[in-house]
Formats: sequence, C-alpha cells, structure tokens
Amino acid sequence: MKVLVLHGPNLNMLGTREPDVYGAATLENINAMLETEAERLGLELRTVQSNSEGALVDAIQGAQDWADVIVINPAAYTHTSVALRDAVSAVGIPTIEVHLSNIHAREEFRHRSHIAPVAVGQISGFGPESYRLALRAASTLAKS
Ligand code: DQA
Repeated sequence: MKVLVLHGPNLNMLGTREPDVYGAATLENINAMLETEAERLGLELRTVQSNSEGALVDAIQGAQDWADVIVINPAAYTHTSVALRDAVSAVGIPTIEVHLSNIHAREEFRHRSHIAPVAVGQISGFGPESYRLALRAASTLAKS
C-alpha cells in the first residue's frame, strides 16, 4: 500500500517556527519518524513539502498514478484553499487531514477547514504524533 504525505506552506520551517505552538521537531525529524513507522506498517511512503498552492494541487493530481492514500497537512491552505479541496475531491483518493496543533483550540479563522468535508477524517493537536496516527489510520483503510 502506497501513501503520499504532503506538507504545506511554512512546514519546512518547523524546528525554528513558533516552537511553543509547533514543537521542536524539524520536518526532517518528522519525515524520518514517518519512514520508520511506514516500514513497521509495511507501507510505501513518499513525502513532499511545498509552499506553493499550485504545486500541492499538482502533487495531489499526480498521486492518481501512484498513491492509495494521501495524508496532508495543508497548513494555512486548510483555511483558504478551495483549489486543494477540489483537487482532493477530483482524484477520489482517500485523504487524511493532519495538523500538529489543535486548530479548533486556536484562533477562530483556523477552525474552518475546506479539506475536512472531503477527507476521510482529521487528526489535529498531537504534534508529530498526528502524522504517525494518520499513517496508522491509512493502513487501517487499506484493510477495510
Ligand atoms: C497547521 C495549523 C494551521 O492553522 C497553520 O496555518 C499551519 C500549521 C498545524 O499543523 O497545526 O501552518 O496546519
């Protein structure tokens, strides 16, 4: 089973970016942890980070040739991007939305997700563990 993990804008700055909100782990740390977890679960993994909305749309469309499940942290585009939502909807690949922070406990503008209505589910608030939980959910989806 193949899982594409997409990281949205500013997540390349993890480690130094607002560590009180997002923690000390870098994106490299998170991707390494995901590689370990994917191996344990017997999943094939690809990870992509982009700050660009269009590049993320391209990655979602490109996943049609490869991925069984998409795990995405759309970051700020969660709250703004109809384009990402439409891309998820268009490809029809089961998609799991992930956030490091609990977006529902933060500013009101973060409470709304354009992705959630077209996602299988959302995991929010567990730091890097949110991604690991998403991989576990992905492997469950494969079995169901
Ligand atoms: C985030 C939450 C978003 O509101 C924010 O814009 C991010 C990161 C998270 O992982 O907690 O960039 O997606």
